[in-house]
Amino acid sequence: MLHLQSDRKLSMSSADQEKAGDKPAPITVPAPLSSLEIKHTKIFINNEWHNSVSGKKFPVFNPATGEKICEIEEGDKEDVDKAVKAAREAFQFGSPWRRMDASQRGKILNKLADLIERDNLILSTMESIDAGKAFTSSYFGDIPGAVKSLRYCAGWADKNHGRTIPMDGDFFTFTRHEPVGVCGQIIPWNFPLVMFAWKIAPALCCGNTVVIKPAEQTPLTALYMGSLIKEAGIPPGVVNIVPGYGPTAGSAISHHMDIDKVAFTGSTEVGKLIKEAAGKSNLKRVTLELGGKSPVIIFADADLDNAIECAHQGLFYHQGQCCIAGSRIFVEESIYEEFVKKSVEKAKKRVLGDPLSPSTQQGPQIDQEQYDRILSLIESGKKEGAKLECGGGPWGNKGFYIQPTVFSDVKDDMRIAKEEIFGPVQQIMKFKNVEDVIKRANNTTYGLAAGVFTKDLNKAMTISAALQAGTVWINCYSAMSPQCPFGGFKMSGNGREMGEYGLHAYTEVKTITMKIPQKNS
Ligand code: NAI
Ligand code: MG
Repeated sequence: MLHLQSDRKLSMSSADQEKAGDKPAPITVPAPLSSLEIKHTKIFINNEWHNSVSGKKFPVFNPATGEKICEIEEGDKEDVDKAVKAAREAFQFGSPWRRMDASQRGKILNKLADLIERDNLILSTMESIDAGKAFTSSYFGDIPGAVKSLRYCAGWADKNHGRTIPMDGDFFTFTRHEPVGVCGQIIPWNFPLVMFAWKIAPALCCGNTVVIKPAEQTPLTALYMGSLIKEAGIPPGVVNIVPGYGPTAGSAISHHMDIDKVAFTGSTEVGKLIKEAAGKSNLKRVTLELGGKSPVIIFADADLDNAIECAHQGLFYHQGQCCIAGSRIFVEESIYEEFVKKSVEKAKKRVLGDPLSPSTQQGPQIDQEQYDRILSLIESGKKEGAKLECGGGPWGNKGFYIQPTVFSDVKDDMRIAKEEIFGPVQQIMKFKNVEDVIKRANNTTYGLAAGVFTKDLNKAMTISAALQAGTVWINCYSAMSPQCPFGGFKMSGNGREMGEYGLHAYTEVKTITMKIPQKNS
């Protein structure tokens, strides 16, 4: 049993209310649980809990304190093999899962969503201590976000149907939308529960089975989901959860000869390995959701306060650990000074602290590796001549906290303007005209997201057509919902997740053609 500090304030801070909108309605923030029992620390296969074959375990830490939370059974190749065997069996033609009515699959997914809603307090407390996520973000953001994704896909379960085709000749042709098979899914630590839902929901609504590996830093909510999956009535073997490290358990998934598809979210570096592994093994289908260095373009005619707020949230949300982080902000010359000044004021007001405190906006970075990498990128920014406007170093005396940092006078060829930082570090650049900014915004190997702020419709439309990005937001940023497909151009990934397009990755199309006998023949 973990005993957590219990002196949490129950009101939302003014800074949080400001984030929620101009005139916030009073919001009641529940207190996080004051103690939390971590019941699920084993490998989940066939709706049962297993020890690792090797007998190994790995520790999980609270990034806010550096303290160990618990130890988890460490999955490796042999455990992945066991999980794949279970998933394959559950996928056999004629199995309970394959014979289940599609509408019933939808019903079960909705049941799972109900259970997550019921356990929001447990899950959001867990997410906060495991991932360093601000409790209010978990409670009002991640957990309801996971619920919505499941409900959205639940609705699709009995609607992902084929077509009849007017084929040449005397034939009747139709397509069947069939599940792909056993899906390997590898997820990161920045949105542990949301990513879990984004992966399993479309896979299950299309009738696939799953072997999923949570990130080694944040396995707790994924394992808790094992218990809810069983409670919801999902048959054994349909979802198997194997916690473990990337080069061992993750690699076993990507190289497996009996996994039909792999979906990965994480670094571009590992994304390349996943594709390579597919090529070297069984040419499994691959979808990748990788990093970004997303441009946010702000014209002088924009609603400045809105642009500043969106650019701020678009970068600093969850400590900057978001694939869509708007980390290259291009501001039109004439408003540059004012934009920088107000952005710095905002960054300085950010409330850092214990993620469990409802007033905290910014918690710690996930681990030592990320912390060191962010600090070294900040140093490179200083050395390469960007102007450090605020922050620029560690915060507090324990945990992986970094001060909200703003750089101005950033040039396109600096490391901080080119590399994904994945931390609370905002880069603000200056631009002169539309042509110039389009070229510069697209001058990156990434293409995940982008934002444009202007009141001029022509500019907004020209820019959104010209930008090489999977999502373009106009006069807003980070606005996401499960109905909208999400994914990247260029090296930000392959394929789309969520929305109707997201079902394609989990569907095989089978063409069935039947000869029609002719009257006179
Ligand atoms: P990572 O790509 O190493 O880890 C993501 C997932 O992949 C984890 O589950 C990990 O165990 C697994 N993995 C690692 N190596 C693997 C391998 N060889 N085969 C199969 N699976 C493997 O990301 P990491 O190291 O945590 O972060 C590095 C950088 O990646 C971050 O600084 C950030 O730039 C980016 N990143 C992007 C994310 C996104 O949302 N697109 C999420 C996390 C990281
Ligand atoms: Mg890594």
